[in-house]
Amino acid sequence: MPRTGPTIEVDPDETPRFAAIARAIIREIRRGRLRPGDRVPGTRELSRQLGVHRNTVVAAYRDLLAEGWIATAPGKDTTVATPLPSATRRTTRPTTAETLGFTVPPSVASTRVPATRVPATYQLDSGLPDPRMLPADLVARAFRRVLRNTALLGDGDPQGYAPLRAAIASAVSAQRAVPCAADDVLVTRGSQQAIDLVARAVVRPGDAVAVEALGYRPAWDALRLAGAELVPIPVDADGLDTTALTRVLERRRVRLVYVTPHHQYPTLATLAASRRLALLAACRRHRVAILEDDYDHEFHYGARPVAPLRSLDAHGLVVYVGTLSKVLAPGLRTGWVVAPRPLLATMTRIRRVADRQGDLPLEAAIAELFDDDTIGRHIRRMRRIHLERRDAAVEALDRHLAGSVSFAIPQGGMALWLQVDPSIDPDAWVAAAARRGVAIAPGSAFALDGRPRPNLRLGYCRHDPRELDAAVGRLAAARPRP
Ligand SMILES: Cc1ncc(COP(=O)(O)O)c(C=O)c1O
Repeated sequence: MPRTGPTIEVDPDETPRFAAIARAIIREIRRGRLRPGDRVPGTRELSRQLGVHRNTVVAAYRDLLAEGWIATAPGKDTTVATPLPSATRRTTRPTTAETLGFTVPPSVASTRVPATRVPATYQLDSGLPDPRMLPADLVARAFRRVLRNTALLGDGDPQGYAPLRAAIASAVSAQRAVPCAADDVLVTRGSQQAIDLVARAVVRPGDAVAVEALGYRPAWDALRLAGAELVPIPVDADGLDTTALTRVLERRRVRLVYVTPHHQYPTLATLAASRRLALLAACRRHRVAILEDDYDHEFHYGARPVAPLRSLDAHGLVVYVGTLSKVLAPGLRTGWVVAPRPLLATMTRIRRVADRQGDLPLEAAIAELFDDDTIGRHIRRMRRIHLERRDAAVEALDRHLAGSVSFAIPQGGMALWLQVDPSIDPDAWVAAAARRGVAIAPGSAFALDGRPRPNLRLGYCRHDPRELDAAVGRLAAARPRP
């Protein structure tokens, strides 16, 4: 009769998880707490116990089985093998992960892989557009047309499809006061690839890179992967604190500053005019490059969007990154970089090595959508809809949560930055909201030091006004009692 074994304890910091689980079981066998013939928990049971996906446990068991630590038979419990693998066999057949050294480098260990998340009923955490609003028929029609052109199914320019580069250059020059030509543009798979290419082309291991202390984690991850040491610079209601930045630049060599000046991510503050000039002057004085992430330039509801730093840059300091993720959909993975040509050439070479070229039919379809003004019309429509949703979110917050949160009404962007009453723990609130089907991000998610912040970030563009009211109602019901 198989004996039921001890609880399997897996080191929470050990990665990958399947290898950690396999090692934990081997540890129990070596200690003698699991003996030959003992029952090993089933994959479903152990995944529940450990709070991991069942496939992770299945992968661990596959390794254990291959190495002879466990035995399975159809319709029977999994048990510890009899006999156990010998010491020699053990040394010749360690787990796959051990043999090949598949450990997660610290630079990406903290990266969240959102595909494993259960989607919430109300997604207020993303700051992304409503996928229901995509003019899908027009995108599909453009795709159909380009797929008939067999030339677009072969090799392409790793810098991006030339007509799309021309369309982006023309839009960026006309609407953002960033004069550029098609040859100044590199088309990427979203701004994430753009940031990664800039990081790889500019940063050397050990270089200091200044970042907004409340900021955009995926950019930090790309910079760290290139070997950057991140230096946090505080942000306030006027955006990046350029006095603090200047003090840092006077003290140490910094290679690059990563900024989101239009709507600071996550606080939505617009970088004040005096600070724009101070930032450019300080970076020029200390020979520091600026990586400007202008991720939602289109969505400004006041008089006019503030012009990008790049439009004020007379000295080629600013590398300018944009995306269609907020305009169309993040799944279409289209972004771009405008940079001085020698740097652009380096990034294009790196892109060629890592990715060969972009998705040529997608790039051609998007070029068509620029040319026939589908994208322009969609932006104008969505600007109106996002403004309506911003106002609906503000009303819902006033109705359900007055007294618990306060906020400035931003003149643009796709989210609200909420100040939470000090008697409420925002992280506990986020967890309680998730249990009620509302995903919302706590301030701590944007902090370089990961410490709690008295804030929530509420993305309002994914839902219509009625849904927003329901979501904020649930958020109010989930509010922890002080
Ligand atoms: C600060 C910031 N930059 C860039 C992006 C867009 O990323 P991507 O173009 O890679 O989808 C986002 C989207 O969430 C963002 O918040």
